[in-house]
Formats: sequence, C-alpha cells, structure tokens
Amino acid sequence: MKERLSAEQFEIRPIEPTNLDDVISIAASLGLSPWSRKDLEDEIGRDDSRCLLACRNEFVEGFIVTRIVPGPTVDRPEAEIYNLGVREESQGIGIGSRLLRHTFETLADAGVSAVWLEVRASNIRAIDLYLSAGFAEADRRPAFYTSPVEDAVVMSLSFES
Ligand SMILES: CC(C)(COP(=O)(O)OP(=O)(O)OC[C@H]1O[C@@H](n2cnc3c(N)ncnc32)[C@H](O)[C@@H]1OP(=O)(O)O)[C@@H](O)C(=O)NCCC(=O)NCCS
Repeated sequence: MKERLSAEQFEIRPIEPTNLDDVISIAASLGLSPWSRKDLEDEIGRDDSRCLLACRNEFVEGFIVTRIVPGPTVDRPEAEIYNLGVREESQGIGIGSRLLRHTFETLADAGVSAVWLEVRASNIRAIDLYLSAGFAEADRRPAFYTSPVEDAVVMSLSFES
C-alpha cells in the first residue's frame, strides 16, 4: 500500500535557481498563470520576494511566490501572494497550509502588516484554503481573468490586532 504522507514530512525552504524546472512544471500541470523562467529567476533574486517550496527527498511538491510591496505608510509594508501550487497527487494533506504559514512567518519578520491575493471565483478549493488560513474576502474584480473570463475574488489578511 502507498505510504500516506503528512505535510510535516516535507521540508520548506527558499526556491533556488536549481528548483525552477520543478516549479515551472508544477505550475504548468496545474494550469497556473505561466511565469517565464526569466521572470521566476528575477523574482527569486529580489530582496523583497519571499519564494518557498515544499520538498521531500529533493522532490519538489509545491511552491509559493510572494512579494513585499509598499503599504499605506513607509513603515508598514504589505505583501501580495502571486502564485501557490501543490502537485495534484500531494494535495489535501496540508502542504498548501504549511507554505502559507511559513510565508506568514517570513513576512512578520519583515514587519508586513497585511497580505493580499487574487483568486478565481470558481476556485473553491483555494478560497477554502485561504479562509482557513485567516483571509477574508475584501473585494471582487469583475471579469479580471481571461481564458475563461471570470471574476477575481480579492482576499486579505491583516497581521495587526
Ligand atoms: C489550492 C491548493 C494550493 C491547496 O493546497 P493543498 O496542499 O491541497 O491544501 P491543504 O492540504 O493545505 O488544505 C488546506 C485547506 O484547503 C482546503 N482543501 C484541501 N483539500 C481540499 C479538497 N480536496 N476539497 C476541498 N477543500 C480542500 C481545505 O479548506 C483545507 O482546510 P482544512 O485543513 O481546514 O481542511 C492546491 O489545491 C492547488 O495547488 N490547487 C491548484 C492551483 C491553485 O488553484 N492555486 C491557487 C491559485 S490562487
């Protein structure tokens, strides 16, 4: 019988250039908005970027791309999650939640006050994940996505009490 893994068995660490093939192939297999290798390479090299992967025995199972962006005041930056994906066969065991939790830790260290993201309105699974991580719907952007045309749900999570 195939061993049932738990999310704790995966190592979470920053995405390195050598991981980009895996990240690109996971994103393609999930139909996520495609980033070119060059864009991803630039992203992971940025000081304001926080890009993490989940792996086991060097096999990459999921990734998250987040960038720290200016907030309402200079001393209160915010962050945007640009992409999150978990290999289909490893979904539903908590890897997505762990990637989010680790991202929150690195963002809190950077003094980030709030995190934002956009998600397709039909992507109930991702919306459920974000809700259980503490996000709330903040806005809707009609016909924000193309192929197919669809509204975006804008979600935010405040780190301020
Ligand atoms: C969305 C996604 C990243 C979730 O990752 P994951 O590792 O499967 O998520 P987790 O196992 O950590 O699950 C966390 C939450 O997601 C939801 N979830 C997970 N598996 C689910 C399933 N099979 N059905 C419905 N909801 C599910 C649940 O709300 C769960 O909360 P719980 O722990 O309270 O039950 C993953 O499904 C994925 O890669 N989807 C395709 C790409 C995508 O849509 N990315 C988001 C773009 S905005």
